[in-house]
Order: sequence, then C-alpha cells, then structure tokens
Amino acid sequence: MKCLILAGGFGTRLRPLSCTLPKLLFPVANRPILDWTIENLAKHGIDEVILAVNYMAETIMRYFGTSRHGVIIRYSREKRPLGTAGPILNARKLLGDEPFLMMNGDIFSDINYSALVEAHRSKEGAVGTICLYEIENPGRYGVVDVDEDMRVKRFVEKPTLAPGTKKPVNAGVYVLDPSIFDYIPEEERKISLEVEVFPKLAEERKLYAYRHEGMWVDIGVPADYLRANRLLLEKLAAEKPVIGENAKIHPEAKISNLTVIGDDVEIGKGSYIGPYTVLGNGVSVGEGCRIEGSILFDDVSVDNYTSIKGAIIGKSAMIGKWVKIEEEALLGDYVEVADNVTIVSGVTICHSKSVEESILEPTRIM
Ligand code: GDD
Ligand code: MG
Repeated sequence: MKCLILAGGFGTRLRPLSCTLPKLLFPVANRPILDWTIENLAKHGIDEVILAVNYMAETIMRYFGTSRHGVIIRYSREKRPLGTAGPILNARKLLGDEPFLMMNGDIFSDINYSALVEAHRSKEGAVGTICLYEIENPGRYGVVDVDEDMRVKRFVEKPTLAPGTKKPVNAGVYVLDPSIFDYIPEEERKISLEVEVFPKLAEERKLYAYRHEGMWVDIGVPADYLRANRLLLEKLAAEKPVIGENAKIHPEAKISNLTVIGDDVEIGKGSYIGPYTVLGNGVSVGEGCRIEGSILFDDVSVDNYTSIKGAIIGKSAMIGKWVKIEEEALLGDYVEVADNVTIVSGVTICHSKSVEESILEPTRIM
C-alpha cells in the first residue's frame, strides 16, 4: 500500500526554529520525526511513501532521497500551498486507483496502521476512515463524533469548547478510497480536507473512524515537540542514557537516564545532563553546567557554569559562561548568547541573533 504524507506546512508555531528547518526534519531523540514515521510505516508493509512537499522542498528531498528503511520515496511538489486536500489531487497520478494511507507529517505516534487499514476494509462503502485519539481540551484539532458503528456523525475543525472537555480528535492519519478525488475541487488554492471535505463525507455517511490508544503527539507547538521527545526517551533511555560514538565525557560529569547524546559530543568536568534531555551530534558542554529537560540541536556549544532548563536550542548556537536559560525558551540556529546573560521562560530568539543582555520578560527577539 502507498502512503501520502503532507510535508509542506510552514510550521509557523515552531518559529524561529522552523525558519531554517522544515517541521518534518525536527529531530526526536536525534532522528527526524519523518524518519521515525517511515520506519514505522515500513513495519506495517507500506512500500511506497509520497511526500507532498512545498515549503523548503529541496531540504526534505535532499535528506530523504529515493528510498528509506526499504520504502520507495516519491515527491509530489506544489507550486503554491494547496492546504491539506489539494495535495491529494496533485498526487493523483502517483497514488493510482487503490485505497491508500494518508497522514499529516507532524504526527509522532505508534499507530497500528495495519489495524486502521483493516478497519477501513471492514466497512462497505467507506470513502475514508479516520484515526481518532481522545484528548482533553481538543480545540486545536478536528473534533469527531461517531455512532456505535464507528460511523462519523460530525466532523468540526478547531471548535471552541468549554475548558476540560474530553473528546476524540482527528489524529491526522487516514485510509482513503480513490473516490475521494471526486470530493476535492480542481482548483489551484488551499483546500482544507477538514473543513471542505470531511464534513461533507460525514453528512453522506461515508466516513468511518478507528480509535488509537497508544502514543500520539502533534509536534506543531514547542511544548508538544518537547513532549514527543520525552515520550521517546521513556522508550529508549528509561534505564540508562543512550550515548553516541566518540563521546568525550569527563569522568566527573554525570549523565542521567532519560537522556540521549549524539555522536562526537564533549562534556566537561562536573556537568550534569538530564533527565529528559537530548544533545545533538557535535554538541560541546563545558565544566559545571546543568542541562535538563532540553533539546540541543547539532553542534551547539555551551560554555562553563551555564544552566539550561526546558529549552530548545537550534543548530550551532553558542551559549556563553554563567548563562541561565529557562523553560520554553526557543533559540534559533546560530544564536550567540554572551556571558552572564539570563533568558527567562517564553522568550524566542530569531536565528543568528547575538544576545548581549539579559531578557527578563517573554519576548520575541527578531
Ligand atoms: N503539502 C502541503 N501543502 N502540506 C501542508 C500544507 C500545504 O499547503 N499545509 C499544511 N501542510 C501539512 C503540514 O506540514 C502538516 O504535516 C499537515 O499538513 C497538517 O497541518 P498542520 O498545520 O499541522 O494542521 P493542524 O495540526 O493545525 O491540524 C491538523 O492536524 C490535527 C492533528 O494533529 C488537522 O488535520 C486537524 O483536524 C487534526 O486534528
Ligand atoms: Mg499539526
């Protein structure tokens, strides 16, 4: 079976990191999210993935090439953004005339794709079967009501709901029959599958659902991107840290469990790394540092006695001595932070910026 993956969004809620890296190449425990997804699809017998690309298409194409984990990779390029439904028509020739899987590329999950396909096959006349996942406060997602036969009664994209509401949401993974092509207008514009197509299919009683109950995260906002990493660390490094090749770790440094460390990493005397921390390849950390709950992309350098907690730091950033970086701070690639600077929670700093003085309120530095 083939799988169409939407890989063309701008990742606006992950700026500034997504200004230089497409969301689907964001590392989860040091491997791009899309790489984990393709590996999982391969385990369920998917033999061909079609990536619907647009924003930073070349970067994605260069990384994934023509095959990955034994899966053939093809590309369907858009001249302009076509939303979530337009890419289906755009890839029509590549998809052929058999049912296919389709998914949003920013989903990190252990969905049983085989069971989803089985659920679709068991419903005669189904044009689509949506994977559902139950969450609290589902206003950021497509909210789905089903009947006892798992037929979708209603699909509402991003509704306003009372706080604390728990509902099944669209997990962004579907099996679609080729008859879906007839439901998408042949127009060169952004067409929303969730707003323009699914509600209509539900009305015609041709849309079904399947419930997923394992792991599921949409990495689209920083807190959830961190959460996807945490969930994977609990699988990969629960007992002891995972440490890459050629690591130079001082005997008096401490690396806790729930930590993944890339290749060629250096860690100085007395530093404490983890838990819930990922250091990319080539990261260097000086003496007496404390890094926890954070993700450092490749080649970040951190000078002596600095503390970083709950932050995401882009590639090749240079952090000085005695610096303090707090929760949910987002530093773009190549950012430089001078010695003795404090950056508080909620600050985002655009790539290549130099920060000379402390930032003590949540701000965006452009
Ligand atoms: N090729 C292409 N072209 N891909 C696009 C485009 C486009 O114009 N716009 C967005 N995408 C991709 C994004 O990269 C992402 O992988 C996917 O489409 C979904 O877009 P998001 O922007 O992440 O949507 P969302 O998270 O707000 O909502 C969607 O996902 C939820 C589940 O996480 C909807 O499908 C919701 O109904 C759903 O609950
Ligand atoms: Mg999303």
